[in-house]
Amino acid sequence: MTSISLSNAAAASTTSLTPLASTPSYADIQSIVADDFEIMDQQVFGSLNSKVQLVMNVSQHVINAGGKRMRPLITLLCARMFNDQPSQQAMHLAAITEMLHTATLVHDDVIDESGQRRGKPTANATWDNATAVLVGDYLIARAFNLLVGFQSLPLLQVFSDGTCDIAEGEVLQLQHQHNPEATEADYLNIIDGKTSRLFMMATQGAAILQNKTEHLQALADFGQHFGNAFQIVDDVLDYSGDSELMGKNLGDDLAEGKPTLPTIKALELLKDSDKTGYEQLRIAVQTGKTPNTEQLIELVRHSGSLEYCKQRALEETKLAQQALSSLPDNRYRQGLYQLTELASARLV
Ligand code: IPE
Ligand code: IPE
Ligand code: MG
Ligand code: MG
Repeated sequence: MTSISLSNAAAASTTSLTPLASTPSYADIQSIVADDFEIMDQQVFGSLNSKVQLVMNVSQHVINAGGKRMRPLITLLCARMFNDQPSQQAMHLAAITEMLHTATLVHDDVIDESGQRRGKPTANATWDNATAVLVGDYLIARAFNLLVGFQSLPLLQVFSDGTCDIAEGEVLQLQHQHNPEATEADYLNIIDGKTSRLFMMATQGAAILQNKTEHLQALADFGQHFGNAFQIVDDVLDYSGDSELMGKNLGDDLAEGKPTLPTIKALELLKDSDKTGYEQLRIAVQTGKTPNTEQLIELVRHSGSLEYCKQRALEETKLAQQALSSLPDNRYRQGLYQLTELASARLV
């Protein structure tokens, strides 16, 4: 990994993945596959080869900003779990997974009108929405361009199905924007697509490359539940985290009228206990405009909703960990387990 992105990734990891005393740090887990990780990281940069300078500038802006590279780390751990040899193919696939992730973030920041990502101004804020959307499209196209090189239809199938699901998840989320009637089931449907699907692709891709397709179901379960836990934690942190540490604006979900789990549960809890608060929060979701955002954030914090979300995140983490039990028991599987612990420890 280059020194620039290492320091940025390390900054992001020590902040948004803060370990418990007993949990290894993100850097510890990363070090299990240190050599592979470094090659993968260079490939994330090296895979960008557009002849259009603006495409390069925008892509490099987002990729240079850092990020934890967690999805490629998952791919590398999975590949080694099945076969403890350096696999150029796994490193290459991991880099492609990060490219897809980056594209989803660039698009997501346009949709969410976000100004900050990975501690830097977003692509949409630095250039404009049209540029960000088109460069996000380029990154997806380039990822598939590289995927073709594997000459593996099963791999292309998993990645093309998954990318459709990611897009559908974001559209579903858009449909539920300003909908105070959205349910936990709606929310799970959304995050299953927009977040967990890429975690599933990161794990299943490694199994396909290593010819371990008998483990696809366990890996799908692991990726899905880990992704769910990760997104629930991220949504809780939108209400309780620290913007500087997270490297992105917080409080955005409510300001955008996005019914995430903290809001959905808060509405349910307030309905019986605080009619005024319930109405205020409902209107805020409906309109996405509220003169008293701070007060509503406090309302959500005090409703008991965040405790419920934390419980749900822990349940999803446990399910992800259970899914690991049928997989080869070695230090790479242990690394995957620790990664799930670390992700939910962000809430402690
Ligand atoms: C952000 O993912 C998007 C979510 C699914 C919440 P990460 O928190 O992994 O973002 P980076 O890659 O480290 O910036
Ligand atoms: C996650 O959604 C983005 C994707 C999975 C594409 P969010 O909107 O919650 O992510 P942040 O908070 O902007 O990182
Ligand atoms: Mg967003
Ligand atoms: Mg968020």
